Amino acid sequence: MTSDPIRLGIAGLGRGFMLTLPSLLADPRIEIVACAAPRENSRQAFLSQFGGRAHATIAELAADPDVEAVYIATPHQMHREHAELLAAGGKHLLIEKPLAVSMEDATAIVNAAKKAGVYLITGPSHSFDQPVLAARALIDEGRLGKARMAHGLNYTDFLYRPRRPEELVTEQGGGVIFSQAIHQIDVIRVLMGGSALAVSAMTGAWDSARPTEGAYAALIQFDEGRFANLVYSGYAHYDSDILQDEIGELGTPKDMSEYGAARRALASVSTPEEEAALKSTRTFGSSENPSMAPNAEHFGPIVVSCDRADLRLTPKGIEVWADTERTFIPTPADPSPRAEVLKGLYEAIRNDAPPLQAGTWGRASLEVCHAILESAREDRHIILRYQS
Ligand SMILES: NC(=O)c1ccc[n+]([C@@H]2O[C@H](COP(=O)([O-])OP(=O)(O)OC[C@H]3O[C@@H](n4cnc5c(N)ncnc54)[C@H](O)[C@@H]3O)[C@@H](O)[C@H]2O)c1
Repeated sequence: MTSDPIRLGIAGLGRGFMLTLPSLLADPRIEIVACAAPRENSRQAFLSQFGGRAHATIAELAADPDVEAVYIATPHQMHREHAELLAAGGKHLLIEKPLAVSMEDATAIVNAAKKAGVYLITGPSHSFDQPVLAARALIDEGRLGKARMAHGLNYTDFLYRPRRPEELVTEQGGGVIFSQAIHQIDVIRVLMGGSALAVSAMTGAWDSARPTEGAYAALIQFDEGRFANLVYSGYAHYDSDILQDEIGELGTPKDMSEYGAARRALASVSTPEEEAALKSTRTFGSSENPSMAPNAEHFGPIVVSCDRADLRLTPKGIEVWADTERTFIPTPADPSPRAEVLKGLYEAIRNDAPPLQAGTWGRASLEVCHAILESAREDRHIILRYQS
């Protein structure tokens, strides 16, 4: 263990926390010391695995003097209330994506962190994946020229994974824009550098039983005529992990013979309550902790076109398609797939060196989500105002 690990509290022991848990456990920079969770069985499971203190409310976690920083992994619409309480208690904040649902709530979170003088980092998001950060570093070296165009596509079963009712209502943060586009936007903003200027997009909501956006295509304009094109479908048909060496989003090998599993599992429930209960079988204390993934995480195939090379990001590294030769730069998931976000938290708190995804970063990405929805709804180009 690092001599002075961050004493971390966890707010919300659900699915998001479960996915980050293997990386938290593997990281010597982090010591999990407390949690806040409304469910008694989750608190008991927490105490038996980690010891420390298991609080019933966020207010108690905010008042816990031994906690330095809190990973907020509660539902999106609660992030503001929880961030305000925790910042007022002097806790640094690592907040799951999206930072909030409304821009008003995102601004309130940014202001609360600023007022309390605590760090605010939005993550984990796939912009912390090692291949993304390695590609950014390669572009920053300058020898490949500028990143001119980026293309991201992802075809998943997102809309057919078990959901809480509000996860299917766009106004409450449901659908693929707030939970999935936010990853692609974060990744593309890291790779393209600088601020996005404007967005044109179309969205699809094609299943009346799950009446929120399940698909989108967005064209994002950056400075100097640079641009990115993002395409996503969560309708559980084509699976673009087949283009990623059959490695899933979380860095684990995917069994392609399980085609259709998400829709089949969902067919076993008939009410929203049963569906929410199915989701909760995948949360902390209700199932085994996931094992450590052998590869980096990813969010679908990404290609970045620079002046002198195209970079293709894979879960194992970066293919560099330069003028006269092709090379491969491996980026092992070492020591864990989510190590970079934890390193970012540590470096911010211990060395005053926050990652790119700190401060107003999460609000700027959220603004792009809203611009996608607004552009599609109003059939127009949306100018962005909160990029910095
Ligand atoms: N980065 C990722 O890979 C990833 C994956 C899944 C979810 N997430 C994010 O995590 C967040 C939560 O989503 P989820 O899918 O884990 O939902 P979830 O329903 O599985 O988990 C939410 C948890 O919050 C708890 N909670 C609710 N109210 C609380 C309160 N007042 N105090 C403390 N805990 C409370 C619930 O009991 C539950 O355990 C969302 O913002 C989502 O976008 C991120």
